[in-house]
Amino acid sequence: MAFPIHRPRRLRRTEALRGLVRETALSPRSLVFPMFVCPGVGVKDEIRAMPGNYRWSVDLLVEESKEVYGLGIPAVILFGIPEKKDEVGSGAYDPQGIVQRAVRALKRSVPELLVICDVCLDEYTDHGHCGVIKNGEVDNDSTLELLAKTALSQAEAGADMIAPSDMMDGRVGRIRAALDGRDFENVPILAYSAKYASAFYGPFREAAGSAPRFGDRKSYQMDPANQREALREIAMDIEEGADIIMVKPALAYLDVLALARRQFAVPLAAYQVSGEFSMIAAGAANGWIDRELVMMESLLAIKRAGADLILTYFAKDVARILRR
Ligand code: PBG
Repeated sequence: MAFPIHRPRRLRRTEALRGLVRETALSPRSLVFPMFVCPGVGVKDEIRAMPGNYRWSVDLLVEESKEVYGLGIPAVILFGIPEKKDEVGSGAYDPQGIVQRAVRALKRSVPELLVICDVCLDEYTDHGHCGVIKNGEVDNDSTLELLAKTALSQAEAGADMIAPSDMMDGRVGRIRAALDGRDFENVPILAYSAKYASAFYGPFREAAGSAPRFGDRKSYQMDPANQREALREIAMDIEEGADIIMVKPALAYLDVLALARRQFAVPLAAYQVSGEFSMIAAGAANGWIDRELVMMESLLAIKRAGADLILTYFAKDVARILRR
């Protein structure tokens, strides 16, 4: 019945025809560029496992951010590498902390650029876990207080959006209450709702020096085997007040993205994480794959699966390509 009446190739003959019926498109408007900020002046320190990505001191972070904004990318998300780490991650909620200083500098020099702050203790604790340790375990409820303090200090510094990535239970609600209690009711929360305990974060942990000193993150981040649990996590975050929900990593979890897209009516983010970036960069550096094509195809797939916004270390490259 179908062939020869139906010939799907008819609409694939030319780029104009393909363009006319294309279902998905990337735009710099929906990209977020992750950046690492470190102490010092004049520092631009390349991350070995993430070629083309750097730890920036605040002064150079500002310069780089101007370029990011100039490329049409509306937002960055900041990760801090503090001077000192300690047991309770004090650097995360220090009003003079590295991220707080970076936010103030960015809002002063590039006010239109949206500054999103990742909320988590792992970059700031000497043991590398995302929360306070009690009896050898990551303690949920005492960590919530510190996460709320962190979010507040970031909002006070001028953060445009707060993004908790710690995976403690109840953190979205606790942070929402803390923000509202201090007149930050207009600061949205981007919740890392379905964040998996993933080996794809390897290069990030090198970048931030945040690999856990003992054990792993499986007691708080999600089991990669689980899909239904992701939907429960997301539903809870929405109930607690999340404005945007996120699935992380992205490419290996497209099923979760697609389901979340169908089930929830809030904006959906995907994080193409460090390992996803590094695999493409490494394959291309070896001449085994085409960097540009694989990068665009992977991001398009993330969009097609249902992501509204994408956090990606490729943001600048993509924006440049979309401009041509
Ligand atoms: C936690 C955090 C991590 C990432 C974002 N926020 C690391 C982790 O959970 O170990 C990973 C991002 C990436 O791999 O690109 N602060």
